[in-house]
Amino acid sequence: MILEAIQYAATSVVTPKPFRPYIRSSVNLWARAGRCARDWTPHEAHCQDFIRETVLGMRERRTAVVLGSGLLRDVPTAFLSRTFDTVVLVDLVHLASVRLWLSAKRFGNVRLISRDLSGLDAARAGLEVEPLGFLRQVPYLDLVISANILSQIGVGATRRLEAETSGDAAAIVPKLIAAHLDGLAALPCTVALLTDTRYTVSDRAGTVLEEADLLHGIAAPPAARSWSWPVAPFGEDSRAHQIMHEVIAFRR
Ligand SMILES: C[S@@+](CC[C@H](N)C(=O)[O-])C[C@H]1O[C@@H](n2cnc3c(N)ncnc32)[C@H](O)[C@@H]1O
Repeated sequence: MILEAIQYAATSVVTPKPFRPYIRSSVNLWARAGRCARDWTPHEAHCQDFIRETVLGMRERRTAVVLGSGLLRDVPTAFLSRTFDTVVLVDLVHLASVRLWLSAKRFGNVRLISRDLSGLDAARAGLEVEPLGFLRQVPYLDLVISANILSQIGVGATRRLEAETSGDAAAIVPKLIAAHLDGLAALPCTVALLTDTRYTVSDRAGTVLEEADLLHGIAAPPAARSWSWPVAPFGEDSRAHQIMHEVIAFRR
């Protein structure tokens, strides 16, 4: 709890004001990732391996952009920094501990951007939803990695719409998910998509108690690889239940 409070306070100081409301959720993710580190290692290794393999197949390696860079657990940051001229990390929040680690490593070519990648504000205003349109301004863009952010766009937008009672989540959230996938599909560079697509809650006998489509009915592109990620192993949210997410990796 004390470490979380320090992380929260230190991150508030370095986070632009509009993004401060999201710090709590990043700190919660950081705390959960610490508690579940052993169970999350295979998932993180699969993600990092997939990104490395994607890069090794590329000829030009000028600028790489990571969408949903967050805690940098499933992103091989040192490898990307070594391999590309410039690496741009985009997320609502980059925690103070992540910023400290990046400075300690002296990754001089790594830039951080705070940005809402959901497109929710445009969707609510009835405007065209083009959350990845800003990538057109990035010079020498050779790689975009969507790093386990897609399902979280849906989770965050649903939470905001419900809290603010300001829109029909069932209609808006699928549009946001589709807009992210359409944005990736339109990019004129290499793309790696890592995303969880569904989850199941099950008990110790293996009985599935609940399951849901994290992409809200929008079809993901065909998986080059897939695996399970125990987001909440037994004992994390409950001694009796575990929450398992299905993850896919796609490249183009
Ligand atoms: C499951 S985490 C992915 C973690 C990260 N790839 C890593 O290596 O640790 C999802 C990330 O998406 C970010 N995120 C969620 N909604 C977002 C949004 N609308 N715009 C930008 N980032 C968002 C969260 O802040 C979080 O860091």
